[in-house]
Amino acid sequence: MPKQVSSVQTLAQELAFPSTRYQGSKAKLVDWIWKQVSNLNFTTVLDAFGGTASVSYLFKTKAKKVTYNDLLQFNYNIALALIQNKNTRLGSNEVDWLLQKHSYIDYPSFIQENFSGIYFTDDENVLIDQLITNINYLDDQYKRAIAFFALCQACIIKRPYNLFHRKNLYIRLADVKRSFGNKTSWDRPLNDWFREFVKEANQAIFDNGHENIVYNMDVLAMPTNYDLVYIDPPYISSQGVVVDYLNFYHFLEGLAIYPDWKNRIDYKSKHRRFIAKNNDWTDKKKAITAFDKLFDRYQNSILVVSYRNDGIPSETELLNLMKKYKKSVHIEYYGKYQYALSTNTNTQEILLIGI
Ligand SMILES: C[S@@+](CC[C@H](N)C(=O)[O-])C[C@H]1O[C@@H](n2cnc3c(N)ncnc32)[C@H](O)[C@@H]1O
Repeated sequence: MPKQVSSVQTLAQELAFPSTRYQGSKAKLVDWIWKQVSNLNFTTVLDAFGGTASVSYLFKTKAKKVTYNDLLQFNYNIALALIQNKNTRLGSNEVDWLLQKHSYIDYPSFIQENFSGIYFTDDENVLIDQLITNINYLDDQYKRAIAFFALCQACIIKRPYNLFHRKNLYIRLADVKRSFGNKTSWDRPLNDWFREFVKEANQAIFDNGHENIVYNMDVLAMPTNYDLVYIDPPYISSQGVVVDYLNFYHFLEGLAIYPDWKNRIDYKSKHRRFIAKNNDWTDKKKAITAFDKLFDRYQNSILVVSYRNDGIPSETELLNLMKKYKKSVHIEYYGKYQYALSTNTNTQEILLIGI
């Protein structure tokens, strides 16, 4: 029998979803989301735009059979560690090994050569080159994924704004009085953070009795046949401002494809982002057609869309679109939730549910 767990919060003492600083993560909303969907009849669920896997993890704790997907490979690796993985953890001797330099390994200096002065200090760049090389030496895919998760979190927490959208190491290093940012987090050594995040991942791992699976695909290429599909695409504000995940997190995506990173960089950009790729979900002219295709593809599943009431397409457009495919459609509102960087006080988190 799958282990039935009442809520992520109830389990907080023994099992806790790792802390996250990812844009648009629904980690703080999972209890509210669960309240809105817990009465629906479903066992299999697709988290189609999985991100940090916070919603997949919610469903995993509720004994659902979870399929996670995200277009970005670094996110896929994180979900491999937390969702598909049932009981593999990273031991403290393995963490020690990962943090050491080994004479029998030939270490590339790719980050040192290409990212000097951009995101991290020279010493940190040496350690990141070393850590990712050691991680790729691990045989077990889940141990690799846990270590990779910890490296990504350690990199994110040391970044101003927790992003890689600008060459702004200088913000971290400037000797000024600060009214923002977290200097203590920035200054704490990367290897300390790495150990801490391994602990967070180890603590979150459990078996819910199902074979939960993770994918790294474009959402429209995913298999069908899920009882419920949870849809949380990139957000486009009414002013047309897009959360472009590849641009915000390209450094982590580079770590996920380390040997091939050199072929994906746009060397004309100061912050060494990836060469841009078309994605309908981050194009305000194409997003509505993308929703239409997705609703059409999963019209036999219960559809649950996380959205905001001030996006493109609008709430009404999305509601009407879903009505093309589903008999019963309603909206739930979460009053006070705000994104970390948002200054718009009128914005509201909503769930659009089609049964
Ligand atoms: C709003 S975030 C999801 C947040 C997630 N629910 C969480 O709690 O962390 C949107 C995600 O969609 C992913 N994404 C963007 N385009 C995609 C596509 N075409 N197919 C699949 N995933 C995509 C992004 O990489 C990003 O992680």
